[in-house]
Amino acid sequence: MPRPIISPSVLASDFGNLTAECKRMMKHGAEWLHMDVMDGHFVPNLTMGAPILSCVHKGVPGIFMDCHMMVSEPERWVNDIADAGGALYCFHLEATSNPVSLINAIHDRNMKAGVAISPDTPSSAITDEIGAAADMLLVMTVYPGRGGQKFLERCVPKVAELRARFPDKDIEVDGGVGPKTVDACAEAGSNVIVAGTAIFGSDEPEKVIATLRSAVET
Ligand code: DX5
Ligand code: ZN
Repeated sequence: MPRPIISPSVLASDFGNLTAECKRMMKHGAEWLHMDVMDGHFVPNLTMGAPILSCVHKGVPGIFMDCHMMVSEPERWVNDIADAGGALYCFHLEATSNPVSLINAIHDRNMKAGVAISPDTPSSAITDEIGAAADMLLVMTVYPGRGGQKFLERCVPKVAELRARFPDKDIEVDGGVGPKTVDACAEAGSNVIVAGTAIFGSDEPEKVIATLRSAVET
């Protein structure tokens, strides 16, 4: 299985101090920072776009921005996010009719490409061609749109199905993941753990990050 990666979701951070929040998480051992981009259309909320990501990229040396694009037209933002310093561009399979050409466009801009599936999308929607082309597959364990929701256990089998088909790919889980739910994700084969509330809501985020990592390592 690929290496464990912890990617705190900044959605649960203090947006007024976003660069400091990202630095704090990197100091606590986070490999990636999960940047939730919402367009008010694919999901009901609005969060941030390329201008903010660009400031974070400039303000946080060495940051790896794991950009989760909850947007209706993911083709539209590839160049802007690349220019802003995005390292990984993860789009929703539900939002595009041509995922493989989108993956190619992302790679052309030197970003890693991720493909996300919402709770009602089966793992079989990720065809062999899509899975082979992508760098990362994201299994949502809540309905995309907001933080702090309850983990949907019924999504976990999709992680195992994808791990069996794609042993070398990064497989990320996102939504309601924390020390109580991470073991199920890790056992199913996820190696990239996103957690917002569980990390930023803790007085000891470094301990939460260490706990999440050890769940994936074992
Ligand atoms: C939900 C977002 C998640 C969210 C996770 O739409 O994609 O990244 O911020 O937050 P928690 O860990 O609080 O469920
Ligand atoms: Zn997310």
